[in-house]
Amino acid sequence: MSLRDRIIAAGVAVLAIAFAPIALRAQADCLACHGDATMTDSAGHSIAVDGQKFGSSVHGSLQCTSCHADIKAYPHPDKIAPVDCKTCHADQATSVSGSVHASASDQPCTSCHGVAHYIFPKDDPRSNVYPLNVPKTCGTCHGSPDLAKKHGLPNVYPLYMDSIHGFALSKEGLLVAANCQSCHGSHGILSHTSPQSPTYKSNIPKTCGTCHAKIEADYEQGVHGKAVAGGNLNAPVCSDCHTAHAILQPTESAFRMQSTPICGNCHKDKFSTYRDTFHSQLGSLGGYVETARCWDCHGAHDVRPASDPASPINKANLVTTCGRCHAGANASFVKYQPHANARDRKLSPALYYIRLFMNLLLAGVLIFFMIHTILWVIRSRYSQVKSRAANGGKNA
Ligand code: HEC
Ligand code: HEC
Ligand code: HEC
Ligand code: HEC
Ligand code: HEC
Ligand code: HEC
Ligand code: HEC
Ligand code: HEC
Ligand code: HEC
Ligand code: HEC
Ligand code: HEC
Repeated sequence: MSLRDRIIAAGVAVLAIAFAPIALRAQADCLACHGDATMTDSAGHSIAVDGQKFGSSVHGSLQCTSCHADIKAYPHPDKIAPVDCKTCHADQATSVSGSVHASASDQPCTSCHGVAHYIFPKDDPRSNVYPLNVPKTCGTCHGSPDLAKKHGLPNVYPLYMDSIHGFALSKEGLLVAANCQSCHGSHGILSHTSPQSPTYKSNIPKTCGTCHAKIEADYEQGVHGKAVAGGNLNAPVCSDCHTAHAILQPTESAFRMQSTPICGNCHKDKFSTYRDTFHSQLGSLGGYVETARCWDCHGAHDVRPASDPASPINKANLVTTCGRCHAGANASFVKYQPHANARDRKLSPALYYIRLFMNLLLAGVLIFFMIHTILWVIRSRYSQVKSRAANGGKNA
């Protein structure tokens, strides 16, 4: 205890004798001691409270004893019962106790909301859970590679910060961009393996759809959306194609160049046939972004089988579909097979022979240069030995 505390304590003690027992009720009574920024307990830990900051916090109108309810009078005991936020926030406490975070920390509330005395309303920019601050708050744990490894989780924070949502939030301060809480909730967070979780596979379209409403509606009409709604979890939801945390702007080349395998991971046969065609060769060899990707012909969200008259790949619609890029496309142009199979002589004879020719040419060139290189090595070794002999055994 500092000298000042002792003097104050003596003053309080004198008053206590005069009017005993003295009731400690007002904030000012407590702050008379705890307002001293240098105050520490007997173990040396700070027990100071910044009265002004506390006063401006969401709890600023409460008395200290509303929370520290076991303090009734001076002198108060050295050991005081820990404050339980549950006494006043039972709903949040119940949700947290049923969530993945129930045992993530000894202080589940303050691990997200910060120091107990300085909590602000969620719409105050000083709050840890203000939309723009949520990623950093979750990131104190979910940005740690050690924690991720220990719990077998992806290290999400850096992925998110580089995504379109993270960028919109951190660089543009866009309050409506998705933060962790938009997709996971706040107090009742569950693993994506729980069917009640907003991140459970079949709930994801609705979760993203709270903001991307038109796209969700398109998706629900398509073959993938219908399959998922019907319980076929092999069909894709938003995060299968976009990822959950590393979401890119789909018009960017980073997305267009890398995402053919997105459809291709599931449609392996169609991917391999597409890969042999001109459109794909242009994309992968030439790095040509403008070429046709799966979704330029099939659509991205309202994907339908060829037999569906509303499908962009229905025979009746092909002129329009191809015509988006090929001005003047007509019925004979669209006979070209986007999934021609160069390994199938009957389906695509021209391609088959071209591929065979190209492969033979490639093999021929390789064999020629291999033989050439071997002969060259022998020849140069021979010259070396010969010139060393001419120099009396020394290198030239
Ligand atoms: C006369 C000075 C004084 C006053 C007035 C006072 N305290 Fe304290 N308080 C102390 C001291 C000294 C300690 C450190 C005890 C120790 O060494 O562990 C302490 C410790 C505490 C602790 C921490 C106990 C723990 O378990 O670590 C809390 C909480 C606390 N006080 C709350 C209050 C509240 C609330 C009030 C007003 C109702 C109040 N104090 C009024 C001097 C004071
Ligand atoms: C909203 C409830 C609440 C109110 C109001 C409150 N406290 Fe606390 N206080 C806590 C909690 C919870 C802790 C435990 C530390 C933590 O979790 O951050 C604590 C800890 C303390 C401690 C121990 C040292 C520390 O900082 O950990 C002191 C001293 C203290 N409070 C004093 C006060 C004083 C003085 C006031 C009034 C000006 C006050 N408290 C008002 C909830 C409250
Ligand atoms: C995993 C982080 C996390 C934990 C743990 C957590 N909160 Fe929250 N809390 C949040 C977020 C995020 C919000 C903002 C929610 C929003 O914007 O709708 C919030 C909002 C609140 C609100 C404002 C009302 C509301 O529900 O939106 C209260 C009150 C609250 N929390 C109390 C608590 C209490 C009490 C605990 C401990 C039992 C707790 N919180 C634990 C993240 C957390
Ligand atoms: C004595 C009752 C009491 C206790 C204990 C208490 N609070 Fe509060 N809390 C309140 C009151 C009253 C409000 C302001 C009214 C409101 O907006 O709900 C509030 C508001 C909040 C808010 C802001 C709500 C918003 O609208 O964004 C958060 C967050 C919060 N408390 C968290 C906590 C945490 C964390 C603890 C435990 C460290 C705690 N509270 C302990 C009474 C309490
Ligand atoms: C105090 C550190 C901490 C904070 C802050 C925190 N978490 Fe966690 N979180 C954990 C730990 C530890 C686990 C693993 C719990 C377990 O597996 O028992 C976890 C688990 C999760 C899981 C489920 C993982 C699984 O599949 O089991 C999700 C989702 C999650 N956290 C999201 C969030 C979000 C969103 C926030 C912010 C609103 C947040 N966390 C804040 C520590 C934290
Ligand atoms: C746009 C929605 C969205 C946002 C924003 C988001 N997540 Fe996720 N998160 C998901 C989905 C969906 C999953 C389920 C697994 C998957 O598809 O990868 C997931 C999985 C996780 C996991 C793995 C545990 C599990 O259940 O598989 C953790 C941990 C996690 N998120 C934490 C965070 C944190 C921390 C943030 C903020 C920095 C965040 N998430 C932002 C949608 C989101
Ligand atoms: C809380 C609202 C919200 C949620 C939930 C949300 N997003 Fe977004 N998303 C946005 C906003 C706002 C933008 C625009 C950012 C910008 O343009 O800077 C955006 C941008 C995007 C973009 C970039 C394309 C574009 O139109 O700018 C994609 C792709 C995207 N989100 C996918 C998803 C997916 C997938 C999910 C679910 C896993 C999801 N979003 C959940 C608000 C949300
Ligand atoms: C089968 C893969 C796939 C699924 C499932 C999927 N998307 Fe997309 N999404 C794409 C592709 C590919 C694009 C790029 C379309 C383009 O450039 O024409 C895209 C574009 C977007 C865009 C940018 C705006 C636009 O229309 O170009 C947003 C936002 C978006 N998706 C959100 C979502 C949401 C939300 C869901 C779930 C309801 C979802 N996506 C489901 C593949 C998918
Ligand atoms: C996660 C795996 C998965 C991904 C990723 C995926 N699909 Fe599918 N797709 C399916 C399944 C499963 C079906 C069958 C749905 C049903 O009818 O039950 C299907 C059906 C289709 C159909 C209808 C064909 C038919 O035989 O009925 C087309 C066309 C299609 N997908 C194109 C695409 C395109 C284009 C993409 C990328 C933008 C894509 N798919 C991404 C799994 C996937
Ligand atoms: C240049 C336009 C175009 C591109 C690019 C394209 N497709 Fe196709 N796709 C078609 C057409 C036209 C058909 C119908 C005729 C056929 O089967 O060849 C079709 C048929 C399909 C079918 C079977 C549909 C049914 O109802 O039977 C699937 C699945 C498919 N494509 C997936 C893909 C995937 C995956 C990719 C990317 C790896 C892709 N497509 C790229 C135009 C295209
Ligand atoms: C997203 C735009 C896009 C779409 C949609 C598209 N293509 Fe292409 N296609 C290209 C580009 C770019 C080239 C290479 C440049 C060029 O020669 O026009 C190309 C080249 C071709 C070629 C070889 C070169 C030529 O012009 O003769 C054929 C054949 C072809 N596409 C057929 C189709 C057919 C059939 C469809 C519809 C099923 C289709 N394309 C849809 C962009 C597209």
